Amino acid sequence: MKITDLKKRLGEFQLDIGSMEIEPGLVHGLIGSNGCGKTTLSKLIMGILTPDGGTIDYEGLTARDITMTSQKPYLLHDTVYNNLVYPLKIRNMPFEEAEVDAWLERCGLADKKRQYARSLSSGEQQKLSFVRALIFKPKLVIVDETLSNLDPDSADLFERLIVEQQKERPVTWITISHQLVHIQKICDRVHFMEKGKRVASGTAEEILLRPTHPAIRAYLASTEVSFRAKEDNERGGDRT
Ligand SMILES: Nc1ncnc2c1ncn2[C@@H]1O[C@H](COP(=O)(O)OP(=O)(O)O)[C@@H](O)[C@H]1O
Ligand SMILES: [Mg+2]
Repeated sequence: MKITDLKKRLGEFQLDIGSMEIEPGLVHGLIGSNGCGKTTLSKLIMGILTPDGGTIDYEGLTARDITMTSQKPYLLHDTVYNNLVYPLKIRNMPFEEAEVDAWLERCGLADKKRQYARSLSSGEQQKLSFVRALIFKPKLVIVDETLSNLDPDSADLFERLIVEQQKERPVTWITISHQLVHIQKICDRVHFMEKGKRVASGTAEEILLRPTHPAIRAYLASTEVSFRAKEDNERGGDRT
């Protein structure tokens, strides 16, 4: 997917992405301070917002190939099972119950199949919305801060599901998270945004471990104390 001169104004905020390439089949991380425009860009890609100008070349992807999970999952007033099959039904995709059960098993919700989805814990609801996003075999998945409020076990599960998915049938991911440890582990490419602009793109190592751009350095210094600590740890604490 190629983004060119994409512009969107929301109140005082101006998004202006001169160019951005989302190479298919890779896990992309989208990072930057709160309010820099990550969600706005995602909504433009999803077609939820209409751009003021510019183009998104989807390179053959259609709306039914693309999905997004958000921090506050929107679940139907129905059972876990019915929530999960909903994306299949609206796309008229045939499915076997066993296939759905396998997904529930994978995310540890097998025993909650008949439970009312909105009575799940918030972590379970996020797992459900994540798996619901994958079940119809999308080609582009945008994960907007879904990892943010998860307990470490669930965050690890997401990581595993993404890695498994990439082995089985690679899809394109755009993962938005301030959890830079996860971004570093799972992302092939990282894009850094500041004040509505894409400032830099590169490998996770280039952007997170050897950032040259001052804005990235400032972001890394301000956001993720634990990321820095972990990085130091892995290098044998040579900074102390
Ligand atoms: N509907 C809106 N009207 C006015 N301003 C908005 C609207 N939606 C978002 N914004 C502003 O646009 C900026 C970017 O928001 P957002 O894309 O959600 O940032 P991020 O996801 O990176 O935290 C923020 O300053 C936000 O307040
Ligand atoms: Mg956001």
